Amino acid sequence: MLRLASVVGARPNFMKIAPLLAEMNRRPEIIEPILIHTGQHYDDSLNDSFFRELDIPRPDINLEIGSGTHAGQTGRIMIELEPALARFKPDWVIVVGDVNSTMAATLVAAKMNIRVAHVEAGLRSRDRTMPEEINRLVTDAVADLLLTPSPDADQNLIREGISPEKIVFVGNIMIDTLHQSLEMSRASDLLGRLELEPGKYCAMTLHRPSNVDDQQTLAGILGALAEIQREIPVVFPMHPRTRARISEFGLSQCFASMPNLVVTEPLGYLDFLSLYSNSKMVLTDSGGIQEETTVLGIPCLTLRDTTERPITMTEGTNRLVGNHPDRIKEEAFAVLKGERRPGRVPELWDGKTAGRIVDAILKASI
Ligand code: UD1
Repeated sequence: MLRLASVVGARPNFMKIAPLLAEMNRRPEIIEPILIHTGQHYDDSLNDSFFRELDIPRPDINLEIGSGTHAGQTGRIMIELEPALARFKPDWVIVVGDVNSTMAATLVAAKMNIRVAHVEAGLRSRDRTMPEEINRLVTDAVADLLLTPSPDADQNLIREGISPEKIVFVGNIMIDTLHQSLEMSRASDLLGRLELEPGKYCAMTLHRPSNVDDQQTLAGILGALAEIQREIPVVFPMHPRTRARISEFGLSQCFASMPNLVVTEPLGYLDFLSLYSNSKMVLTDSGGIQEETTVLGIPCLTLRDTTERPITMTEGTNRLVGNHPDRIKEEAFAVLKGERRPGRVPELWDGKTAGRIVDAILKASI
C-alpha cells in the first residue's frame, strides 16, 4: 500500500488535484490518498466553491495559514506542515503548480526524506521577479519525480542539469478537469444572469503583482479596458488583491464611465468555464487560462512580457501583449475585427493525464 499525501493551498491548485485524487481513489487496493490543505486561500470564492464543484474530498488536515508576506506565508506553511507529515508518514508528497504552498511543502518533505512528485514541473518564464518562477525553480531542484505538461518543460529541466530518469512527460492535468466539467458548465446560468449572449463579450482577469501592485501600470490597463468595453461588453471577475489595489490607489471611480464593464466577485470553476468558453476573447495575466483557452480555441491576450507556457503561443491561441495600454488596445481590436490565430491542442492535453501521473508514481516506487 502506497500512502500519497497531496498538498494544496491556492485556487489554481484545486483543478489540478481534483482528477488526481479521483484517479487515486479508483485504485484503493494499492493507494491510500491523503489530502493536506495549507489554507493559503480561504475565501469561499477562491476555495470552498472549488471543493464543492470539483468534488474534492474534505482535506484530512487544514493548516489554516492564510495570507501574509512571502516569507511569512512560506515559513508558516513549513512550520505547520512538518508535524503533519510526521504524523501521516506518507511515502510520497505530491505538489502541483507553482504557488508558495508548492515550494514550502517540497522543502519540508525533501528534508524529511519523503519523496516529492511535482505535477506541472519544468515550466519557466525566465523572469525571476515573478514569485512563481522562484517557486518553480526551487521545487524542481529538489523534487524526486518531475511530471511535465509539455516537451519544452522537459528541455528546461535537462538544461538545468536534472537527471532525465526523474522526468516524465505526462501532459496537462488541468485539461482532465476541463474535459470532465465542460458539459456541466453548460448548466451555469451566469450568462443569463449577466444578460450576455455567447460570442458577444470578452472576459478579463488580472491579479499578477507586476500588473496590479503598481499604480501607473494598473491605471494604464484600466484605461485600455475603458476603450475595449466601448466596443464589446467585458466581464471582469476581480481577484481580492486587485480589488484592494484599485481601492488603495483611488482608481474605483474610473468604473463609473465604463457602462459595458461587468465587475463580479471571483467566479467558481463552472461559472468561469462557462464565461470563457463562450467568450469572443480573453484578456488575462493568469497562467492556467492561457492553457484553457488554447484547448478551446478561444483567442487569448496575455498581459505579460513573458510566459512559462510558450506552447500556448507556438501551438495555441495565446498572444503575449505586455501591459502597455496602446499595445493591449491594438491587439484587442485586431481580434475583435476577426484576426485569429489557428490553434491546435498540444500533445497529451487529452484529459488522461491523471492516469499517467499515478502510473509514473507507482513505477518510481518499485
Ligand atoms: C496566489 C499565487 C498565484 C496564483 C494565485 C491565484 C503565490 C505566490 N501566488 O496569488 O500564483 O496565480 O494565487 O489566485 O502563491 N486573499 C483573500 N482571500 C483569500 C486569499 C487571499 O482575500 O482566500 C487576498 C489577501 O489579501 C492576500 C492576497 O489576496 O494578501 C494575495 O493572496 P496570496 O495567497 O498571497 O496570493 P495570490 O495573489 O492569491
